[in-house]
Amino acid sequence: MGGRFIVFEGVEGCGKTSQMQLCCQWLQSNGIPVAVTREPGGTELGLELRRLLLEKSEDKPVAEVTELLLYAADRSQHVAQELKPNLAAGKYILCDRYTDSTIAYQGYGRGLNMSLIEQLNHIATGGLESDLTIWLDVDVEVGLARKRGSETKLDRIEQEAIAFHRRVQQGYAELAASYPFRIVRVDGSLSKEAVQQNIQGILRDCLKELP
Ligand code: TMP
Repeated sequence: MGGRFIVFEGVEGCGKTSQMQLCCQWLQSNGIPVAVTREPGGTELGLELRRLLLEKSEDKPVAEVTELLLYAADRSQHVAQELKPNLAAGKYILCDRYTDSTIAYQGYGRGLNMSLIEQLNHIATGGLESDLTIWLDVDVEVGLARKRGSETKLDRIEQEAIAFHRRVQQGYAELAASYPFRIVRVDGSLSKEAVQQNIQGILRDCLKELP
C-alpha cells in the first residue's frame, strides 16, 4: 500500500492540532503507519524558520515578501526531508498546514501576488499535492477566542488585525469552492468528538483502503 498525504487547514484556533492527534490514534489503532508533521517547523531547519516567522519583536520586522520566502524555504526543506521519504516508506502523513496556508495567509491575508505565490509553491513542493485536505471551518472570532483562552501570548500572525483573519477565512472558502475534490470542508464549531467522526467518515470515503 502506498503512502497518503493528508493536510489539515484552517484559521487560528480551528482545532487542527487536537483533531490530528485523534486521527493519528485512530489510524494507528487500525495498524496504519502514520507520520504527523507541520509547516512551518516540520524539520530542524524549519523549527528555526518557525521561530523567526512567529516571534513578534518590534525591532525585528519581517517584510511581506521575506515572510513568503521563509514559508517557501521551510516547505522546500520539509518536502525533501520529511514528506517525500515518508510517502516513499508507505506512511500516512498527517500534515498541519501546507500550500493552501500560503495562498490564504500571504495571498488573501497580505494581498501578495497570487501567481508569484503559486510559482513559489510549485518550486518548494516540486508539484507534490495533498491527496486530501481537510478544511476545519470555524468563525474567525471563535477561533481567536480559543487561542486567547489557551495561550499566554499570541504569536506575530495571531496578533494581526481581525480584518486580516477574515480575509484568510475568505481565502479558504474560495479555495474549497475551487478545488472541491481535493479540499473538504468540516464544520469545526461542532464538539471535538463530532468533528472527529466527520473527519473519519471523509477519510473512509476518500481513501477506500481504510476500515
Ligand atoms: P500554526 O502551526 O500554529 O497553525 O501556525 C503557523 C502560523 O503560520 C499560522 O499563523 C499560519 C501561518 N502560515 C502562513 O502564514 N503561511 C504559510 O504558508 C504557513 C504554512 C503558515
